[in-house]
Amino acid sequence: MKSGHLRAGRVVEDFEKRFAIAVGARFAVAVNSGTAALYLAYRALLKPGDEIIVPDFTFIATASMALAVGAKPVFADVDPETFTLDPADVARRITRRTRALAPVHLYGHPADIAALARLARRHRLQVIWDAAQAHGAHYGSRDVGSFADVVCYSFYPSKNMTTGEGGMLTTSDPQFAAEFRLARSHGEVSRYRHIRLGFNLRLTDFAAALGREQLRRLPAAIRARQRNAALLTRQLEGTPGILLPRCVGPVGHAFNLFTLRLDSDVLNLSRDEFQEALLRRGIETAVHYPTPLHRQPIFRGFGNDRDFPVSVRLAQTVLSIPVHPGLTERDIARIAQAVRETAKTAART
Ligand SMILES: Cc1ncc(COP(=O)(O)O)c(C=O)c1O
Repeated sequence: MKSGHLRAGRVVEDFEKRFAIAVGARFAVAVNSGTAALYLAYRALLKPGDEIIVPDFTFIATASMALAVGAKPVFADVDPETFTLDPADVARRITRRTRALAPVHLYGHPADIAALARLARRHRLQVIWDAAQAHGAHYGSRDVGSFADVVCYSFYPSKNMTTGEGGMLTTSDPQFAAEFRLARSHGEVSRYRHIRLGFNLRLTDFAAALGREQLRRLPAAIRARQRNAALLTRQLEGTPGILLPRCVGPVGHAFNLFTLRLDSDVLNLSRDEFQEALLRRGIETAVHYPTPLHRQPIFRGFGNDRDFPVSVRLAQTVLSIPVHPGLTERDIARIAQAVRETAKTAART
């Protein structure tokens, strides 16, 4: 604030450089939301009429930004263990019009990057990874932000790092990076000279200053999330009717969310009743997401329940319990005890 420069300037540039280095990408381009990042990525990689395969079980923006650029989101089902795109179902939905895939590293668990990248190569598709919930997540030895073609991040307050509102694109393709920079700022190449249609999707120096500090703290925040996840897992293992999140494949899970699945064969409470019971015990939880995308009014006609059995089931059974770095071991013990006691009371005998 003392510098007097609140718009995008040197701090944004510095934040971008540090972010690119942190994730192992050549370029990072900051924007003012994760939605803006997806919009710019789709706009650069898709043409009107192209199809892009997206998970049926994710936040709306992964799919709606395809509509925003005139492309068609084609939903695919997800894997019940990892909550991320099921490569076999993706393969079934590829057509002549398919141009790209948009896998989501949901809750911080990386998608099956090896299988999806293989599919993309075989069918000459581009990949836009939605890493809005996966800052600090790894696949093999690599950060998820280093994969081709483009990775999109959000810095919304509930994410692993925040700038209030904000987002980032990472890529190793200089042409994409140049395109994103132009489009985020009125297609301007020099002062008041505009060579392309563009927008104002810039991050401010003010927000980038927050981002730099958050990035510095990210490794410790991820370690705390992973420690909390391990404690919750240990204390909840074997609880009737509670299925715990697992790491599948060579993944470093960033645990943006710790999401349980409730087994309705075992519990005589619905997910919503279970959530209310926890709230009565003082434990706030959340549902990500209660509605599969094909059921959203905006996507009427994009598919039926029988096309997405896993996504439909997850929307009815998932429940995210607190895992954020601010929790103490006592908080975790209290959360785990509330879940265990609620489950035991609700277990069918
Ligand atoms: C998976 C996913 N994609 C995209 C977004 C959009 O990000 P933002 O809210 O910053 O626009 C979010 C977060 O809200 C998200 O969780």
